[in-house]
Amino acid sequence: MAYNVLLSADPGIDDSFAIMYALLNPKINIVGIISGYGNTPKEKSIKNTAYLLTLGNREDIPIIAGAAGPLSGELIQYYPEIHGKEGLGPIKPPDTIKNVHVHDINKVIEIVKQYKGNLIIVSVGRLTELALMFILYGNNALRDVTAFYIMGGAFLVPGNITAEAEANFYVDPIAANTVMEKAHNNYLFPLNITNKAIITPEIITYLSEKSLTPFRPLLKPAFDYYFKAYQKNVPGIQGAPLHDVVPLMALVNPDLVKYIPRRVRVEEFGNAKGKSIADFRPKPDKDPQVSLDYIGMEIDLQKFAGNFMEIFLANR
Ligand code: RIB
Ligand code: CA
Repeated sequence: MAYNVLLSADPGIDDSFAIMYALLNPKINIVGIISGYGNTPKEKSIKNTAYLLTLGNREDIPIIAGAAGPLSGELIQYYPEIHGKEGLGPIKPPDTIKNVHVHDINKVIEIVKQYKGNLIIVSVGRLTELALMFILYGNNALRDVTAFYIMGGAFLVPGNITAEAEANFYVDPIAANTVMEKAHNNYLFPLNITNKAIITPEIITYLSEKSLTPFRPLLKPAFDYYFKAYQKNVPGIQGAPLHDVVPLMALVNPDLVKYIPRRVRVEEFGNAKGKSIADFRPKPDKDPQVSLDYIGMEIDLQKFAGNFMEIFLANR
């Protein structure tokens, strides 16, 4: 049986790989995609999602318009040097992708009700939209969600926006902390493991020749653009980390990642804004079971690359 997944994303190149991976994986049933600001402005993020759904012949999947900016109201910085002007590297979704039908954020509650007790929320963008659910509908808004799989944070390792903070937590730390506090069964996929989840240009070249999926033409140009940015930032890097694929793959491959249970908080203000915090002392003060989050700290890298290839090579 497939997992019902409501995905929250900001495509973005690694988000786009995550969306393609999810659409191709028979163990994942995407029931909606929230598309908000993040790597690109909200409008581009929606357009990219719509383009991927069109290519995959899955226009039946509802697109939910996400937030345009963080809860603080601060100005946002986008990352065209990493994700391209449109968010897909050099690719511009064709003009036929216009007047995309989107649902408003209340659709999230409708989906949660529809899949009560049988829904995973996977978040690979800023956490503004999920925090909004608690603000709009109260602390029990997402009670009927089975678990939350979240790409975000960096524990005892450098961040990728500041020395302290990872992008998804840094840009809306108030939202990230709200979700850590109010959501339950949180599985976190921080930079500790996603930075290692590297796909090499050789794998992409192979897939762009052999993949029978409708996404084949996108793979190489989108990846090459993203990889070039990583090569500039991390000299000597052998491939590009596809951060956002990790939580989806971990959901359907339970032995991919090893977790440490700890209560996680996120610094909301100040110099360490966006920093993810957990108590890793050998004998930390015991937190109640219900407030524990599961931090992914080890990943089977061979399995990551192998499963990625398997999914993109399948004839779907
Ligand atoms: O820090 C990695 C995260 O930030 C990923 O979700 C990626 O898409 C970027 O926005
Ligand atoms: Ca993302």
